[in-house]
Amino acid sequence: MSDPVKLAIIYYSSTGTTDAMARQAAAAAEKAGADVRLRHVAETAPREAVESQDAWREHVDRLAEEPTAEPEDVVWADAVIFGSPTRFGNVSSQLKQFLDALGPQWGEGLLADKTYAGFTSAQTAHGGHESTLLALYNTLHHFGGILVAPGYTDPVKFVDGNPYGVSHATGADNDEPLGDAEDDALAHLAERIVTVTGQLKRGREA
Ligand SMILES: Cc1cc2nc3c(=O)[nH]c(=O)nc-3n(C[C@H](O)[C@H](O)[C@H](O)COP(=O)(O)O)c2cc1C
Repeated sequence: MSDPVKLAIIYYSSTGTTDAMARQAAAAAEKAGADVRLRHVAETAPREAVESQDAWREHVDRLAEEPTAEPEDVVWADAVIFGSPTRFGNVSSQLKQFLDALGPQWGEGLLADKTYAGFTSAQTAHGGHESTLLALYNTLHHFGGILVAPGYTDPVKFVDGNPYGVSHATGADNDEPLGDAEDDALAHLAERIVTVTGQLKRGREA
């Protein structure tokens, strides 16, 4: 029997939504038998900016004792799920900074042949969910990654409606907590990447 799938969930969150999504995915992946590393990327905004918003400061302080993501977490993993809030329809600079620091590992071929997937959150329903995920996937193609898109591979995907990954609309005046649709879609995303990665792993070992 092969070792459990090693899954890294690497994400950025300013005010906690993407963080909640990451934890939901991590719990589902553990339930599916994966060895999970849940890691937020380091905050790169100046403390002055963080202090300017209570929710941002509280979130940064809440994560202060948790380990931050390191390149080694990606190298360790068989599968990686990245999460980022949308920023003007794009990946947050904090997660992008982490990705852009992976040049040495990319150069050694250490990022290729892993499985990857993504999730995001935005304030509005059409504010960049899909563009953020597709922007994230540009980088994963350069890694030589194997994208495990959820598509509509389960009835839950017709409820959340995002075949590119998982997304949630909340923030500022729209204070919507994760609902069943997002929780189910995150569980499906996590279970699917664990299953597909396990199949690849066993095939490579055979
Ligand atoms: C600089 C900036 C740019 C943003 N751009 C968008 C955007 O393009 N579309 C959108 O719907 N929300 C946008 N948002 C809102 C966040 O993406 C949204 O509130 C998200 O849920 C926050 O996630 P978090 O709690 O994990 O930080 C933006 C927020 C900031 C601070």
